[in-house]
Amino acid sequence: MLPHRSLPITGISIILLAGFLVDSLPVTPAPQTVFTLPSPERTQVLILGGGVAGIIAARTLQERGVSDFIIVEARTELGGRLLSHTFGEAGRDYTIELGANWVQGTYNKDTGRENPIWTLSKKHRIETRESAFFGGIDTYDETGRVNFTAEFKQAEENYDRLVTNADVRVKEHLVDATARTGYSLLGAQPTNHHEVASEYYNFDWEFGQSPEETSWLASSWATTHTFDSDADGFSDVNLMSVDPRGFKTFIQAEAQSFLQSPKQVMLGATVREIAYSSDGVQVHLADGRTLKANYSICTFSLGVLQHKDVVFTPALPDWKQEAIHSMAMGVYTKIFIQFPYKFWFETESALYADRERGRYTVWHSLDHPNYLPDSGLLVVTVTGDFSKRIESLPDAEVQAEVLGVLRKMYPAQAETMPEPTAFYFHRWFRDPLFRGAFSNWPASFLSEHHTNVRANVEERLWFAGEATSKFYFGEDAYIQLSRSAELTRCSQGYLQGAYFEGMDIALEVANCINGNGCVGLEHVEKVRNARPYNI
Ligand SMILES: Cc1cc2nc3c(=O)[nH]c(=O)nc-3n(C[C@H](O)[C@H](O)[C@H](O)COP(=O)(O)OP(=O)(O)OC[C@H]3O[C@@H](n4cnc5c(N)ncnc54)[C@H](O)[C@@H]3O)c2cc1C
Ligand SMILES: *[C@@H]1O[C@H](CO)[C@@H](O)[C@H](O)[C@H]1NC(C)=O
Ligand SMILES: *[C@@H]1O[C@H](CO)[C@@H](O)[C@H](O)[C@H]1NC(C)=O
Repeated sequence: MLPHRSLPITGISIILLAGFLVDSLPVTPAPQTVFTLPSPERTQVLILGGGVAGIIAARTLQERGVSDFIIVEARTELGGRLLSHTFGEAGRDYTIELGANWVQGTYNKDTGRENPIWTLSKKHRIETRESAFFGGIDTYDETGRVNFTAEFKQAEENYDRLVTNADVRVKEHLVDATARTGYSLLGAQPTNHHEVASEYYNFDWEFGQSPEETSWLASSWATTHTFDSDADGFSDVNLMSVDPRGFKTFIQAEAQSFLQSPKQVMLGATVREIAYSSDGVQVHLADGRTLKANYSICTFSLGVLQHKDVVFTPALPDWKQEAIHSMAMGVYTKIFIQFPYKFWFETESALYADRERGRYTVWHSLDHPNYLPDSGLLVVTVTGDFSKRIESLPDAEVQAEVLGVLRKMYPAQAETMPEPTAFYFHRWFRDPLFRGAFSNWPASFLSEHHTNVRANVEERLWFAGEATSKFYFGEDAYIQLSRSAELTRCSQGYLQGAYFEGMDIALEVANCINGNGCVGLEHVEKVRNARPYNI
């Protein structure tokens, strides 16, 4: 079907979609040197980062009467981790999603409450297809096609038990542990590579890290609060964008629908330093410009905060730094390959069980009646440390490894397999604008730490993004903590997490500005043991 093809000239699509945003590129306020002097160049709010959190923060401020803001974004378009890419040989190219690709959870069947990402996708007519993650799946190992569907079903069941038993722990106020501990206590201990690959599909492929690296409780909440209507989540429906304009269109079109002036967006502006005080914020850009504001909402990824790409002056307080470095960034790498023709599985997905855990385990066929038929596109996903490993290799070496695996999966075709016509993957961990794919919650990360990741500093500097999205503990606490009407149990790691945080933090800042009181969010000065060590 032709509509799946990307527009041949991507420049046109950018202009169509982001119109005045691109025209607005040289927004150049005069450089300022004196910090405290009030001046007309001072902006009310600087929104740092133009991803989902930043854009929804902007919309929320504007709805509250604050239109004096600037979204400061390093890239030349808005969208952040909604990163579309044109891929394929000349004349046979498609729009692929290097970052977020699915609306994860659509709406709650009991309350009708919608995932706002689904709402926006409908509003801006994103073309999607429902993915059958646990529908038909073909299974392989190094000897070719091997049926380990039974192990795969067992792993799915094990994951369900992991989630259910986490709930029991919460009710009994038991301490957190790693998801590995949880699996082991439930007797789910993979003993061969078929079982390991099956577990990997259920766990690492969702969280971008291993069960050893991940909190048992938090991984379970992330699942239920996203996919389980009974637990106040949305639904287990995953809608994949196959829109030739790119999945990013839902947020770019939304931005265009409310932004009032080109001056509200500054593209191609890389932040190097954020200087803050009780009086305001000064942001220094890589090109030497300085921006001043009363308030700033920083939406850079947790990975960016963990690295040294952006300097805070003064250094962030100890409680903030401890929190930032106690949370983790998962990595999730989709490796795209195009072949002249399809020679692989007819199902949507396939599982390859290597002797090494996570070595090119999860495969998806985009050349499928449900997605991009006749595209010749195949995707293999790797995660966590394995992602970091391939990011350090040249493309040619990774391609050779991937083809080696395919030859093992299809031994009869090992000699006749066609050469790929295109090969591509994004290095999320090395990318200084992201430093990973999405945040993940380690077992040693306490809820107080998360409070501190989210907390503002000095009343002037605020933080929002998927990583700050808060889990709420129990229904009462949830209602008490929920400040905005639309706020739901949030989904750290997902697009909706970024959306809700952009909205909620902007409401706080709008309250400060509109004089309804600027109390700021709580933080925990020192995170201590509930009981002293006694060894
Ligand atoms: C590979 C991958 C797959 C994913 N799949 C899904 C999915 O299917 N469904 C789902 O719901 N979620 C998915 N996610 C997660 C989702 O993309 C994120 O949760 C969400 O996009 C985060 O939005 P944000 O606004 O918090 O951060 P970001 O999108 O990271 O926005 C921050 C912005 O800040 C900019 N920036 C960073 N540093 C600087 C600087 N120094 N100066 C200026 N600008 C800077 C960045 O360019 C970026 O635009 C996926 C993510 C990845 C990476
Ligand atoms: C910054 O805050 C001061 C004090 O509240 C206010 O007078 C001023 O108008 C604000 N600046 C901008 C640009 O809104
Ligand atoms: C694989 O094995 C399962 C039982 O373990 C069986 O139900 C299924 O039909 C088999 N699939 C194929 C393609 O042989």
